[in-house]
Amino acid sequence: MDESSYSYKITGGVPLKGDINISGSKNAVLGILAAAMMIDGTCTLENVPDIADVRVMIEICQSLGAKFEVNESSEDTLTVFIDPRDINTYEATGPGVSRIRASYYLLGALLSRCGKATLRMPGGCDFGQRPIDLHLKAFKLMGAKGADPRKVNGGVITLNAAPLHGAKVFLDIVSVGATINIMLAATKAQGQTIIVNAAKEPHIVDVANFLNSMGARIKGAGTDTIRITGVSELPGNFTYSIIPDQIEAGTYMVAAATTGGDVTIHNVIPTHMDPLSSKMREMGYTIDEGDDYIRVYKDPEEEIWGTNFKTAPYPGFPTDLQPQTVVLLCLSKGLSKMDEDVWENRYQYIPELSKMGADINIFDHIALVNGIDCFYGAEVRATDLRAGAAMVCAALAAEGTTYISDAYRIDRGYQKIVEKLRALGAQIEVVEDTSSFVDSEA
Ligand code: UD1
Repeated sequence: MDESSYSYKITGGVPLKGDINISGSKNAVLGILAAAMMIDGTCTLENVPDIADVRVMIEICQSLGAKFEVNESSEDTLTVFIDPRDINTYEATGPGVSRIRASYYLLGALLSRCGKATLRMPGGCDFGQRPIDLHLKAFKLMGAKGADPRKVNGGVITLNAAPLHGAKVFLDIVSVGATINIMLAATKAQGQTIIVNAAKEPHIVDVANFLNSMGARIKGAGTDTIRITGVSELPGNFTYSIIPDQIEAGTYMVAAATTGGDVTIHNVIPTHMDPLSSKMREMGYTIDEGDDYIRVYKDPEEEIWGTNFKTAPYPGFPTDLQPQTVVLLCLSKGLSKMDEDVWENRYQYIPELSKMGADINIFDHIALVNGIDCFYGAEVRATDLRAGAAMVCAALAAEGTTYISDAYRIDRGYQKIVEKLRALGAQIEVVEDTSSFVDSEA
């Protein structure tokens, strides 16, 4: 089956029950794969998720000359050996670059390794404008030439480090991508770089931990001030394990809840889930936590009431769980409010959810959600990765059968979602899809 021409067929109404393992974090591993391009030795990554975006990122890095050995581990994740020592170009301009967002990390990584970087503009889900001006302004402060959004020529940007030096960078918007990219560029720059108003997402800490284990000197990742003292060498020769995926875990928490199920989600860091767990408890769900698991279920005596959410940088409520949570709100009593405060246009999936019976009104970045009794099966489309995950959550809870086209978008970020859901009792299968069209995202 062509990668872009399949749908998920889901017959809903089965409460999900059982145990599930969460894979490694997509957004952490994508930053770490780019960071691995900077090291002077080799490294091995464990707990790498087997997802489409990782395969694309590896292909891009291979096109630069880096060598990879990818093996499936007994835990169903990938172990990836990386040798970047033969990188022979600073140009990342192949088609893969515009299929994923995280390819922008190669700007920082290649500037650091080669003193130059040429990049085709990155892709990613369509949430409206996704500028990289903060990345470029920071590189300019650090001495890079060409770091000007107006110098993006034919969708390609070229930066020249002459060489890079440390700088104090104030981010006027909290940006995950800019924080990681500046950390990458600063790791081997001369002197100290200070990032003020840095993003604090778990994957930022993971990228910093990876770099530190390779020989970098990064302090303060996970707080809003990160200090990076440049080093001349990153010896590497280390094995590093990727943290669990906060968004995958949150998606299964929602799927368990919407189906009235009882699921224990293993290989999670429960504190990363606090923004969702605390709100789900407020709504009436029971969330039990252990050292590395979370169990989600509903006490039959409890009623589930809607509430208000606002997306924000970590430790606020993650925008990447917004669509799935709207599904949860649909199946709650009363009127709820979702305030999407990170992206300008992240409600493109609402018309699809409405086909299944959702009652939602959008006012600019606010979605007002009226509770409904149930969703009904329909033919819908995965408009982007997390929107697709939301469609899956709705379909699992729906009466009847739902077909979700463009399901390849879901596979960008969810390892073996069909197998994992089937193991919990879901009726889900992959079917040929004729309505799908190929577009230029990822
Ligand atoms: C990353 C995640 C994405 C998630 C987002 C917010 C990856 C590959 N993607 O995206 O899934 O939704 O964090 O948690 O990790 N901004 C600017 N100028 C810039 C950069 C960002 O104005 O140069 C704005 C954006 O338009 C947005 C906000 O800052 O409104 C946050 O974006 P950012 O955190 O940078 O998101 P990404 O790193 O692209």
